[in-house]
This record gives sequence, C-alpha cells and structure tokens, in this order.
Amino acid sequence: MPELFAPENLYVAPDLSTIPNTEEEGKIIAYGHQLFIHTSKYFGPNGLVSKSHNGLNCQNCHLDAGTRPYGNNLAVVATTYPMYLPRAGAVLNTPQKINECFCAASTGKV
Ligand code: HEC
Repeated sequence: MPELFAPENLYVAPDLSTIPNTEEEGKIIAYGHQLFIHTSKYFGPNGLVSKSHNGLNCQNCHLDAGTRPYGNNLAVVATTYPMYLPRAGAVLNTPQKINECFCAASTGKV
C-alpha cells in the first residue's frame, strides 16, 4: 500500500468537542454541522427554513458529516475552490458549488 494511503496518513477531521461553543464562530460552525447532518429538517419537504428539496441530508452522500475518508468527504473543498467545473461551465466558489450540489442532489443529477 503506498504510504500516501496508509491509514495514519488519511485526513482526520477536527473533533467536534474542539468547536468553541461560546464564540460566534463556534456557533456558526455548530449550526453548519446541524444543517449538514439534518438538512431535511431545515430544507426538506417540511423544512423550517424552506419547504423545498427532497428530504435528503448532505450526509446521506457525504458520510459522517463529510469527514469520512473515502466517504465522499469534503476535506479539500476549502483549498480547491474556486474551481472551473465543466458541468456548470463556469468557475464556482464554495457557496456556489454547495448550491450546485444541493440542487443537483435534489433533482437526482448527482
Ligand atoms: C444525492 C447525493 C448527494 C447529496 C444529498 C449531497 N451531495 Fe454533495 N456531492 C455529491 C457527489 C456525488 C459529489 C461529487 C460530484 C459533484 O461534484 O457533483 C458531490 C460534491 C459536493 C461538493 C464538492 C466536493 C469537491 O471536493 O469538489 C460539495 C462542496 C458538496 N457536494 C456539498 C454538499 C452539501 C453542502 C450538501 C447538502 C446541502 C450536499 N453536497 C448534498 C453527492 C451529494
């Protein structure tokens, strides 16, 4: 097994307990985590924010809140966007890519 793929060299997401729950940034991170794992509660057919989309949660496809190695994780998104995406035919930044994925996932196009 190449060293790059050895288990000890794989990405490990920060532990949730390290998110500061007293600071504004920590609250935003925690809210983002909730949105990611309980997306349909906020944006599902009976969503609290918007009654839209098909009831999938982000982590139905991006396992363990997008942190699991080989689980369609989002570990490199912050460092790889903006990026040209052929399907969009444009350079998308991170929020645009999230919207593109969310919409594509809602219509079964991913
Ligand atoms: C039905 C499955 C599915 C759902 C639900 C889903 N995704 Fe995705 N997502 C994918 C797949 C497959 C890809 C890789 C192909 C692509 O880029 O479209 C992807 C790619 C992405 C990427 C780009 C990753 C990269 O490294 O380029 C981001 C960011 C993303 N998704 C965010 C989200 C967020 C946030 C949600 C929830 C709001 C979500 N996705 C819901 C399947 C899904």
